[in-house]
Amino acid sequence: MCGIFGCILKNSEVASTIHSALKRLEYRGYDSVGEVTIADGRLFIKKDSGKIDEVHMLHNLDDLPGKIGVGHTRWATHGAPTKQNAHPHTDCEEQIAVVHNGIIENFAELKKELEDRGHFFKSRTDTEIIAHLVEEKMHEGLDLKGAVVETVRRLEGSYAIAVVSSKEPDKIVCARKESPLTLGLGENGVYCASDIPAFLPLTNKVVIVEDGELVVLRENGYEIWKIADLKPVIREPKIIDWTPEMAEKQGYPHFMLKEIMEQPLTLRNTLRLQEHYLELMATFLDRAGQLFLVACGTSYHACLAASYIFSKLAFHITNPVIASEFNEQHGKSVNIDSTILAVSQSGETADTLAAVETARQRAATILGLTNTIGSTLTRVSRVYIGQQSGPEIGVAATKTFTAQLSVLSQLALRLAKMRGKVSQDEIDFLEEKVTQIPDMVETILKTQMEKIRQLANKYKDKSCFFFLGRGISYATALEGRLKLMEIAYVPAIAFPAGESKHGPISLVEQGFPVVFICPKDDTRKTLIGNIMEMKARGALIIALCEEDDEEIKRLADDCIEVPKGIPEVLSPIPYVVPLQLFAYYMALERGCDPDKPRNLAKSVTVK
Ligand code: AGP
Repeated sequence: MCGIFGCILKNSEVASTIHSALKRLEYRGYDSVGEVTIADGRLFIKKDSGKIDEVHMLHNLDDLPGKIGVGHTRWATHGAPTKQNAHPHTDCEEQIAVVHNGIIENFAELKKELEDRGHFFKSRTDTEIIAHLVEEKMHEGLDLKGAVVETVRRLEGSYAIAVVSSKEPDKIVCARKESPLTLGLGENGVYCASDIPAFLPLTNKVVIVEDGELVVLRENGYEIWKIADLKPVIREPKIIDWTPEMAEKQGYPHFMLKEIMEQPLTLRNTLRLQEHYLELMATFLDRAGQLFLVACGTSYHACLAASYIFSKLAFHITNPVIASEFNEQHGKSVNIDSTILAVSQSGETADTLAAVETARQRAATILGLTNTIGSTLTRVSRVYIGQQSGPEIGVAATKTFTAQLSVLSQLALRLAKMRGKVSQDEIDFLEEKVTQIPDMVETILKTQMEKIRQLANKYKDKSCFFFLGRGISYATALEGRLKLMEIAYVPAIAFPAGESKHGPISLVEQGFPVVFICPKDDTRKTLIGNIMEMKARGALIIALCEEDDEEIKRLADDCIEVPKGIPEVLSPIPYVVPLQLFAYYMALERGCDPDKPRNLAKSVTVK
């Protein structure tokens, strides 16, 4: 997730306005920053890797001439955070500049086509192909608007772009597909941005650009068209009454809720990973003798779930290991035949990096899955994959967890294909289901939120919870427990449901709440037995089950419904979402701040 901003001012230069706007978009990404303005018939560009303040100190982002310009603050997805990869990106003649938020899935083939036509590329980003495509179209005689229309019609994936040209210095052409784009209409100028906070101090007159629309922004206003058929769109501005702080959360009361709600989009972004890296990593996993999945906290829960997925799909035995225990458990045995897949959304967790360092010193192969390109984990990994979730501001991991699961599921599917362990029909079925997961999560968010909020109110005074599941749902149970503990400060215990009678059931008394994760998978029959044994001792049963599972609904005191037809190996993604919401609403009921839980840091960079 990156931040784009553009503006045209009537009476003043734009550089400092762009700089301030980018500062307000910094929560969307902050590993590189850049600005471009137009004056005297040419482009003026300043950009570099680093945080906005660092780059400003080095280059003075306020010192660019011109009353029109665009800017960008980056969260790297394609290409490491370097000056060359920072936006804006330009065409060969440096007359067209583009800033972009999103992921262009077909950039490799378009880049090849353009290189074959003699275009030379300065960066490793997907974005740069947009500038060269617009250049091509303008060479064919199209104006900037026409060239952008033709360009975006060739793009697959997600984008919110703002394009300027020194040949047409009076306009900014923007377009969006999936990535957000808004317009601001002020007294002294007009603005376009990924998010409202960028221009809220300048105006609260807002126009939301809808999917598949293109905008031409001029000093005196804006025009909108449908990209598909260039039908004009009439849309009046709205006055919004958000505070700047609320705007940063897109109107949600907390970053955690905003990030829970973002999961359909971030899950779609995990479906746009570069095939080359998925195949490369799957190859390394296939060759691995001993394969350790190493992480902390929520990321460890993703590894635990992945161990079931790799085993069931690819018949590949893996060892999920809590990073802080790795050296004690395997420090002596890890060797050149070992492979470590370290999972860390921050890429900076000290315990995880310590485990990786031990393995590296003993010649093991290091692979990485992270949300932070340019992090230490990406530098020590032989191969890494960026999960493309955008910055996660809430301390509790939510969207980054489901994104990790999606990437790990895709890797397991490739491994299964490589090993020929699963029929092509089943592979096709599962690949189709992976693409349906974002919509399933969207359905849960739309249909279950109010019920979950009521459940939190009903159970807000309970002093302890069990979270139980069998098979892969044990990982889901662990994650649900962690969410409730870390942001609502409610003691919770998660264990495989089959373990109840080996001790923990002694805690159960009348009214004791037990959360059961009950997808319709192979474990369901025995799980019903576990529910019965809890009910027999007076427990209150909160069941997460498929929407048509009448048997479970009859047994449970409260039910949260999940769309049916989710394969067992993919079940943690949709089933964890209600548990994230339950923890969030329990935190509110108990007067806790979900974004800043006590004693916790977003990235634990100390051991
Ligand atoms: C999850 O809600 C916690 N914030 C924490 O457990 C986190 O998952 C853990 O510290 C690992 O962080 P990482 O993914 O950045 O390595």
